[in-house]
Amino acid sequence: MAASKHGSTAEIAEAIGEVLTGAGHEASVVPPEEIQDLEGYGAVVLGSAVYTGRWMKPAKELAERLRDALKDLPVWLFSSGPIGDPPKPEEDPVDVAEVMEATGAAEHRIFPGKLVKSELGFGEKAIVLALRAPEGDFRDWDEIQNWARGIAEELGSKE
Ligand SMILES: Cc1cc2nc3c(=O)[nH]c(=O)nc-3n(C[C@H](O)[C@H](O)[C@H](O)COP(=O)(O)O)c2cc1C
Repeated sequence: MAASKHGSTAEIAEAIGEVLTGAGHEASVVPPEEIQDLEGYGAVVLGSAVYTGRWMKPAKELAERLRDALKDLPVWLFSSGPIGDPPKPEEDPVDVAEVMEATGAAEHRIFPGKLVKSELGFGEKAIVLALRAPEGDFRDWDEIQNWARGIAEELGSKE
């Protein structure tokens, strides 16, 4: 489950889903706002793109709304955002500590993201200009797949 505005975080979620499926787990990749309850889920990987230091609302809301159910499941969190080489900013999104606490997540990973200026709205362009963020796709698929393999192994050993 991943909140994504311009689609690059959704693609990270798809890549994680593919690794889990490939490892024999039944994984579905769903936008957080479409999740009503966690019936039938044995684990959750919840992610969000980061905008001005924060997780997107649908991901935060899911963590809040389903906190009791999430507490009973193994949960992994990821953020996608930092841009450039080296990726910046380095800080955790401000709300991740709260989401970790609410969900009892095992881990939070930050993955570099993707920024294409031509896809941005007017306000977003202004922020990106002010931050002097470089344009490009900084996603590291090996890193993402390795992380997902680790999750698949942990889930395997729990079954
Ligand atoms: C207006 C704007 C603000 C952003 N602010 C941050 C930020 O504070 N921290 C961060 O790590 N990334 C930030 N980013 C980078 C995005 O998180 C990155 O482009 C991400 O890959 C977008 O994911 P999406 O395609 O799923 O929406 C920002 C991007 C834009 C356009």
